[in-house]
Amino acid sequence: MSRTIAVTGATGFIGGMLIKHLLAAGWCVKALVRPRSASKIKHLPGLETIIGSLQDDESLNRLLQGAAAVVHCAGAVRGVTATEFNAVNVEGVKQLVRAALTQSPRPKFLLLSSLAARAPELSYYASSKRQGEVALASMAEDMEWMALRPPAVYGPGDKELLPLFQWMGRGIAPVLGEAEARVSLLYVEDLCAAVLRWLDSERCQSGVYELNDTQAGGYSWDEIIANVSAMRSGHIIRLPLPAALLRSLAAVNVTTARLIGYAPMLTPGKVRELRHPDWVADNTALTAAIGWQPSFSLQAGLRRTMGWTESGSAA
Ligand SMILES: NC(=O)c1ccc[n+]([C@@H]2O[C@H](COP(=O)([O-])OP(=O)(O)OC[C@H]3O[C@@H](n4cnc5c(N)ncnc54)[C@H](OP(=O)(O)O)[C@@H]3O)[C@@H](O)[C@H]2O)c1
Repeated sequence: MSRTIAVTGATGFIGGMLIKHLLAAGWCVKALVRPRSASKIKHLPGLETIIGSLQDDESLNRLLQGAAAVVHCAGAVRGVTATEFNAVNVEGVKQLVRAALTQSPRPKFLLLSSLAARAPELSYYASSKRQGEVALASMAEDMEWMALRPPAVYGPGDKELLPLFQWMGRGIAPVLGEAEARVSLLYVEDLCAAVLRWLDSERCQSGVYELNDTQAGGYSWDEIIANVSAMRSGHIIRLPLPAALLRSLAAVNVTTARLIGYAPMLTPGKVRELRHPDWVADNTALTAAIGWQPSFSLQAGLRRTMGWTESGSAA
């Protein structure tokens, strides 16, 4: 079997960590990188950069040639309109699947979806991730595939969750959801380990799989704060942000983004995701399919990410 893996989204948080793990495990990696992002990618032994895009079939063919599998990490995570999200998270998936189907032999296909796909009614992002899964499932023919649904992922290089943990580390915990809401979390290296396990597994049942960290049943906001509190000295002040305030901030953000021309993270759809009561994932099916199990608790992941220790001092 070829030892080459094609990866998209390698310049992002998750894709960047994934290529390090793939290279360390002895895989050769071909990474699709957009021309404007070429400077973001480090030249590492075993890594070949394919300059191109999801819209360019020629670059996708070069990416996939000789690859045993493709791991599709590229995705739009910020934006305002359905069109913005669908162009990448639906049409991009279709384009890559079509290119994969023309290869001989066909690579295995792993789509990094999202737990958000479980509730597509909440946001354009969630809807686009669900549609991406549906497109893959309906187009794949005999190609082996998996769509992974991670919950909120954190780790070095993450720009979304890390600021929240940094605030908690300084003694202030912005609480963005309902007190009784529960969320699963996942340390990025556990996600990479799941991908590597899938790559090494014999043909497993194609389908959509959830995954989460060592805490089955997820966390309440209080439990997240208690975990951080155990790793730093001093009291953490809870700062609940009411839904109305978040919605107002999101509306201002969307208007500003339209005026200045950037893709915002906090939108009305993101607020609905943040206020959703149940983002608890379940590892059971994935563990049965490929034998993967998470290694990191929240505290272990934060230790690796923030350099915190149980006593509250930097490692
Ligand atoms: N982070 C999480 O908590 C989380 C949780 C669940 C699922 N996910 C999924 O995991 C994937 C990666 O997320 P991330 O947090 O690593 O996001 P990220 O840091 O924003 O990275 C996104 C990656 O996708 C690439 N990309 C975006 N639009 C593209 C396009 N039109 N064509 C080609 N490449 C494009 C970006 O390339 P450029 O550098 O060129 O912009 C970048 O490499 C996404 O599909 C996301 O939905 C993330």
